[in-house]
Amino acid sequence: MSEFQTSPGMRDILVPDSARVRAVVDAFAAAAEGAGYELIVTPLLEDAGVFERVGEATEVVEKQMYRFTDLGGRDVALRPEFTAAIGRAFVQHRPPTPWKVWTSGSNFRYERPQRGRYRQFEQVDAEVLGSDDPLVDVEMIALGWRFLAALGLRQVTLLLNSLGELAERAAYVDALRQHFGAHAATLSEASVATLARNPLRVLDSKRPEDQELIAAAPSIEQFYGPASAAHLDVVRDGLDLLGIPYTVAPRLVRGLDYYVRTTFEYAGGTLDSAQNALGGGGRYDGLVEALGGPSTPGIGLAIGVDRTLLACDDEGVFAAPASVVDVFVVDTTGGAAALTICDDVRSAGLRADRAFDHRSMKSQMKAADRSGAAIAVIVGSDEAAAGTAVMRSLHDGGAQRVVARADLVSHLTAELKAPRR
Ligand code: HAM
Repeated sequence: MSEFQTSPGMRDILVPDSARVRAVVDAFAAAAEGAGYELIVTPLLEDAGVFERVGEATEVVEKQMYRFTDLGGRDVALRPEFTAAIGRAFVQHRPPTPWKVWTSGSNFRYERPQRGRYRQFEQVDAEVLGSDDPLVDVEMIALGWRFLAALGLRQVTLLLNSLGELAERAAYVDALRQHFGAHAATLSEASVATLARNPLRVLDSKRPEDQELIAAAPSIEQFYGPASAAHLDVVRDGLDLLGIPYTVAPRLVRGLDYYVRTTFEYAGGTLDSAQNALGGGGRYDGLVEALGGPSTPGIGLAIGVDRTLLACDDEGVFAAPASVVDVFVVDTTGGAAALTICDDVRSAGLRADRAFDHRSMKSQMKAADRSGAAIAVIVGSDEAAAGTAVMRSLHDGGAQRVVARADLVSHLTAELKAPRR
């Protein structure tokens, strides 16, 4: 084993997966920009305080953040998620509302690594700040749903919940504290610790000994005021109108602490239950204020690219886009002809590759076949002397012709644009 390997929970992503990651991000970009979302790019590193505003009882922030003091003495953190950073950007730039943005990139959480759970992972993300309209919630949920469907995924379940407004959520948390507190003796040790920090999260426990108490716990629906109930109804009606199936999941609490009202998750059908959330999101109406801005409603979603690709593997969809060139240049005269021909061909907007290291004709032709190119351009000493090149088809039977070097690019362009026989 070599001296250096990637750190636990961090991976090199090589082809074909690297190409798939890019294709997923491209697909999300197309979906988001097609719905009026603008790209925002925020720093990987922020003042740690930005993420503290996600909520103190949030494990992602309290226990999993890559947080350190930089050389200037600043308390900084690698982003564990985008939402708080985008909230910070909103407060800093005060764009007109509703502000619809999307982004993508790496996030960092110091988790126990396992399939679908890494310490560096990729998300695509969309946020809308400054609108209270429940139809924004519908648009957001539909954006993620249609995106996953467009990748070819069919076994995804949409879980929908509302955590009520802030005061309702707080009353519910109190009720949970009382319920679980009264039966603490029968709770697992881990859940007793969770109860002290964040009673809502006890509902997430998968431990068998907790299940009976969880089933008997009060339900958030009992705490909705008329406005929350009406908001949720509009969201449900909107999803119905779009024909998007969902399951109301009153126990869905999500891992981040800023959520109020609408929350949702896309659960993959093939993944282990601890890692089956492909993505999720919800409303975070208090976050912008907590970051020092004016009271501003917000809603967003993030979808985990790594986990989504695992789900695609399991369902046998979204294969890697083929990485091929159009033209492969074989040059047995020393390599300078390949240099100029590749440069001309690439300048004309075609994809071209070549061999190096003075390989034999045979070895270069093998490389040409492996490259996936449709056409090999061959230059030997005869062609070099005559100012010509051979164009040989690599796909249909090796037909070839000699063309003037000066006309090569136009011949290649014409041939490659011609419909395939
Ligand atoms: P989240 O549920 O923490 O939400 O993450 C969203 C998705 O990111 C997860 O469903 C999962 O696919 C992926 N993910 C999270 N942690 C890991 C990990 N350690 N390894 C691999 N994938 C992971 C958020 O991050 C919120 N910011 C979503 C949001 C946006 N809410 C409002 N706006």
